[in-house]
Amino acid sequence: MTREIRITPSILNADFDHLDQEIGKIAGVSDLIHLDIMDNIFVPNFTFDFESASTIIKGCPIGVDAHLMVANVDEIAPKYAQVGCASVTIHAEASENIAQTLRTIRSEGSRSGLAIKPNSSIEEYERFSDLVDMFLIMTVEPGFGGQKFMSEMMDKVRATRKVIGNRPIWLQVDGGISLETIEIAVEAGADTFVAGSAVFKSDDPAHMINALRSLAKSASS
Ligand code: DX5
Ligand code: ZN
Repeated sequence: MTREIRITPSILNADFDHLDQEIGKIAGVSDLIHLDIMDNIFVPNFTFDFESASTIIKGCPIGVDAHLMVANVDEIAPKYAQVGCASVTIHAEASENIAQTLRTIRSEGSRSGLAIKPNSSIEEYERFSDLVDMFLIMTVEPGFGGQKFMSEMMDKVRATRKVIGNRPIWLQVDGGISLETIEIAVEAGADTFVAGSAVFKSDDPAHMINALRSLAKSASS
């Protein structure tokens, strides 16, 4: 079965002082721009507060896929939907009212995403599937770019693919995706790929995205 493949590069490893130019290098070949929001509470790192993130989202030439690694996410996520993100992903572990927050994200016009850390199981959260437009299976501990891909997460990706069945729910993986690892993730059932350092540490980010896409496409057919 040929699955639709999406590449959603993360700008976490881009040059934050020249973000417009960095996004400009990849916007033409990306499905969405993956924006990592970290609060130094849910994860031990900080990226953007809501105000700076809003400026990036409003100025982005293509849709933004916001990955919220923040505490108090039930209050914060709706704001990211309201400001126009194409997709807003919350961490299951950070939410006290997953169903309500996913519903609000959708009602504000964004796709709803549910992310699961390496130590959490899909079985615990599969009951939310009807409210989810995308599952995100983390293939590193959230917090930093440039970490090693955890191939032991592929069983969880396979289990999530089964949970999804024929529904049009995207299955994203995030962490350590590169030319070396993307095919393993495709074979396990992922269709949407975040890549940060693989893209921004390469000499030609757009070329790298095209290379990742074509490897993933051939592995999926
Ligand atoms: C990590 C972030 C990722 C990160 C991926 O917590 O969620 O999106 O940017 O970076 P790489 O591709 O370098 O692992
Ligand atoms: Zn991310």
